[in-house]
Amino acid sequence: MSSRPQIAGKLPLTELAEMKRRGDRIVMVTAYDFPGGRLADAAGIDLVLVGDSAARTVLGYPSEVRVTLEEMIVLARAAARGAQRPIVVGDLPFGSYQVSDTEAVRNAIRYVKEAGVDAVKLEGAGQSLPRARAIVGAGIPVMGHVGLTPQSATLLGGYKAQGRTADKARGILDGALALEEAGCFAVVLEAVPAPVAARVTKALSVPTIGIGSGRDCDGQVLVYHDMLGLYEGKAPRFVKQYADVATAIRHALEAFAAEVRSGSFPDDAHTYSIPDEELAAFQAATASGSPAE
Ligand code: KIV
Repeated sequence: MSSRPQIAGKLPLTELAEMKRRGDRIVMVTAYDFPGGRLADAAGIDLVLVGDSAARTVLGYPSEVRVTLEEMIVLARAAARGAQRPIVVGDLPFGSYQVSDTEAVRNAIRYVKEAGVDAVKLEGAGQSLPRARAIVGAGIPVMGHVGLTPQSATLLGGYKAQGRTADKARGILDGALALEEAGCFAVVLEAVPAPVAARVTKALSVPTIGIGSGRDCDGQVLVYHDMLGLYEGKAPRFVKQYADVATAIRHALEAFAAEVRSGSFPDDAHTYSIPDEELAAFQAATASGSPAE
């Protein structure tokens, strides 16, 4: 492991391949708003993914497939304003790239121009390969995503680990290699057995970013709300919770409500004053019977 070079300003995309070469692990986290992007930047995170996990975590939909490109653009615009140094990746939502190469390129361009993201991500190999090639051809960096691909969770039989037979594992390796060949700068491996992810990582010259895929990927990603304990749904087995922010927020809200109801908030320390003579003049001017009445 070598020492990481200090790079001022936006992390260059080409640095990710250098990090893989040096054995420096890459850190990615999702973010969906300005404070999330800013905190990820302050924490020295390398990549911020504005994931379609936003469908569940911030928009309250039951599934990723419901979020629209318009909704993602609003979230990504805010996150990108906060994340100045990290590379910001906008997840292309379901329906924004499946129909044709032309539509995929048009929507990727919208993401870059309207939200200010640096790159986009799409799911799957197969049908997604010509889309990835077309978007890269238009000059926009693309991140791939294989293994558990939530946009096709119904087809995959639910949110479960992928690549657990020799054939399926081979399919994941082939898909990742094809995404690299299509020009992707990195590939997310989600819920893939660790030895399969290790083999894919060795085969690819671009970095792999794992989620639930073991420690041998070139980098790791977690969903912001899962790792911070902000999402109250059932977290997958691979999530490590680094904080319990939901409990902290609920305690703060309960304390606020109790203080408002008891009259102890706001106290003098949180209230503006007015000079005595100004108050006296105001009271005189507004006393009952004055012209203002
Ligand atoms: O949408 C998302 O947050 C993702 C990550 C889980 C990789 O795709």
